[in-house]
Amino acid sequence: MPDLSGPRLERKVAIVTGCASGIGAATVRRLRADGAQVLGTDVNPDGEAVCAEVGASFAVQDVSDTALWPSVVGNAVAAFGRLDILVNNAGVVSQASIEDVTDELWDRTYDINIKGTMAGCRAAIAAMKGNPGGSKGAIINIASTSAIGALPGDVAYCSSKGAVRVLTKSIAVHCAKEGYNIRCNAIVPGATETGILNRAEEAMPGLKAAVASTSPLNRLADPAETAAAIAFLASDECPYMTGAEMLVDGAMMAVHPGF
Ligand SMILES: NC(=O)c1ccc[n+]([C@@H]2O[C@H](COP(=O)([O-])OP(=O)(O)OC[C@H]3O[C@@H](n4cnc5c(N)ncnc54)[C@H](O)[C@@H]3O)[C@@H](O)[C@H]2O)c1
Repeated sequence: MPDLSGPRLERKVAIVTGCASGIGAATVRRLRADGAQVLGTDVNPDGEAVCAEVGASFAVQDVSDTALWPSVVGNAVAAFGRLDILVNNAGVVSQASIEDVTDELWDRTYDINIKGTMAGCRAAIAAMKGNPGGSKGAIINIASTSAIGALPGDVAYCSSKGAVRVLTKSIAVHCAKEGYNIRCNAIVPGATETGILNRAEEAMPGLKAAVASTSPLNRLADPAETAAAIAFLASDECPYMTGAEMLVDGAMMAVHPGF
């Protein structure tokens, strides 16, 4: 059985992408509260203030720049001696249907949401294999309920998040079969009160209330609620969970479509 004494992420080292706002910022706060050393990254330098508030480190990073990933991971290992947790959270929406989407919009969405996530996993596994004491790690990729029920108005977003779901399973099976003690799981958020939804509300007033009503709880998720599930998957409390996806959606996807 894992040792569950003390703060559950004590002695663990984590990288959280997209830390400047929303779920990423809440995750930095939660992992720090649970005792982890954290490196937050974001293209937005505002992430520095979020991290400084809770004693986390910060680096500017565009996750889609795949060549940068090994040095981001290397810097965390150099600073803290190991890497235990990677939360691939950075993501963007594109708001274009199949008839409107341009190649540029498609590529940008895929570069951030899926290629960046892949590159993060690849660099993290290389580091986690070399952890002192043997291979060990937990990767959490952020998918979306729109990877399960598609959004007609955002073909690039929902299909890229669909790819994140299967990427997660492929990595989990690979690591298990190779005998690495590295788990890879996905969090599937529903409608969460963050920058993505607030920006969409500006373009489509009333959207937040409409989306909130699709959850039987009839409210949006607080990002801290999503971060709590991320912290669980990052911990040693679920060693048999890998290749799984955890819905944090207020039962949105549990509703029978006929009711
Ligand atoms: N909010 C929701 O309702 C919801 C639902 C399902 C899934 N998600 C997913 O949750 C994740 C977090 O989003 P959020 O809701 O907190 O939105 P958010 O806009 O508040 O946060 C996203 C963060 O990612 C950063 N980012 C964007 N592009 C980047 C890049 N190339 N490199 C590094 N950082 C980058 C942004 O600067 C921002 O800080 C995303 O992957 C999103 O798709 C959100």
